[in-house]
Amino acid sequence: MNKPESGFNADYIDTTKRPEPTLKDKPISGERYYSRDFMEREWDHMWTKVWLVAGMVNQIPNHGDYFTFELGKESILCTRDRDGNVRAFYNVCQHRGNQLMHDEQGHSKYLTCAYHGWRFRSDGTLAFAPCPEDFPQGNPMKCGGKADLEELRCEVFAGMTWYTLDPDAPTLREFLGPVMDEIDVYQVEDMVRTHWVTIEGNFNWKCVQDNFNESYHLPFVHPQTKYLMEQSYKYCQFDMFEKQGHARMFMPGDRPTLGLKGEADKVLEGLKEEIEFWGLNLKDFEENPHSIREAMQKVKREKGKEKGYDYARFNDDQLTDHYHYTIFPNHSFSLKPDGCIWLRADPHPTDPEKCIFDMWYLTWFPKGEKRYYAHAVSEWVDLDKPAPHVRGKEGEVSCGPPQHLEIANWKKKQKVKR
Ligand code: FES
Repeated sequence: MNKPESGFNADYIDTTKRPEPTLKDKPISGERYYSRDFMEREWDHMWTKVWLVAGMVNQIPNHGDYFTFELGKESILCTRDRDGNVRAFYNVCQHRGNQLMHDEQGHSKYLTCAYHGWRFRSDGTLAFAPCPEDFPQGNPMKCGGKADLEELRCEVFAGMTWYTLDPDAPTLREFLGPVMDEIDVYQVEDMVRTHWVTIEGNFNWKCVQDNFNESYHLPFVHPQTKYLMEQSYKYCQFDMFEKQGHARMFMPGDRPTLGLKGEADKVLEGLKEEIEFWGLNLKDFEENPHSIREAMQKVKREKGKEKGYDYARFNDDQLTDHYHYTIFPNHSFSLKPDGCIWLRADPHPTDPEKCIFDMWYLTWFPKGEKRYYAHAVSEWVDLDKPAPHVRGKEGEVSCGPPQHLEIANWKKKQKVKR
């Protein structure tokens, strides 16, 4: 793979090009995208073995807060306990297996089952069961914890709750490997979720990951990005972390694709808000919009502090470029110092030809700012306005450009898999 045009600065994180992965000389069959048998094998051997993101930690800031979500056929519950710990459980009452909590998010001193009224504390212990004398096996509250909620391993990283269904899984640090420290540089825990869209789409979850693991499609699926970032894979860097199965892409941003001649007006229109935010003059780039990137890196170093940023931990390229991480099996972090596009492709509970696709945009607000222009989504966002959870089927709701163009493509891709 070609080196990026400027090379990447290795003073901060190790951006050295990694060895090319070993490719297997065996084509992937289309059946993996529609076979129920393959879907079951994925569940048994992959989904139940890996670390996954449950949600944002700041969804549950206080004791008694909880949120729920689904992974395939399982429902999971995350809580904040009395001691401030974040915990994860199967969202299943241990009496007769009723789903315990049904709201997506809430606050309650006790987690109460609607079937026979068992109440659990936020640490998962059973606090109350009606008519305990009626249980021939003994009082469920005094059975050595057998009736407590079944807990999952869970860790907090990047402002997110991570969990695994596998009690014997390696630690999250072992699972993420070196990408954990690289993502950590961005202090995602200080970002605020300002967009949250969930779409049920008619495509297998792997169509999503296939897409976010490469940039070869950019000129064809969303050619308009050529005004804002490097579109040719030849001038991006792609790396694989073979041991863990994760990958990263470095894509130059804040300038048009290298092959673009003319059309400076379109480039300036797309980057106007950012250029003006940093006090640069649009007119200075009319002749050569390719010089915006270097000028932005310079001005961000000079004025970062006064604008409320701390860029000390970033190399120059990180100030303008997209550092995109694909975490096996189903998450992507597309990072810039002022925000993160976070993407997840979850399996549908029963249908291998459907997927639950989630997109969050996390904004890093400069210190003292309550309103900010999120460049990656081309929208003003407000610190005090929580992102509504927009949900729907494909075609009913949109993630905005360019993801809605990609979604339309995944459906077509799914069709030809058969
Ligand atoms: S199933 Fe929950 S209390 Fe009976």
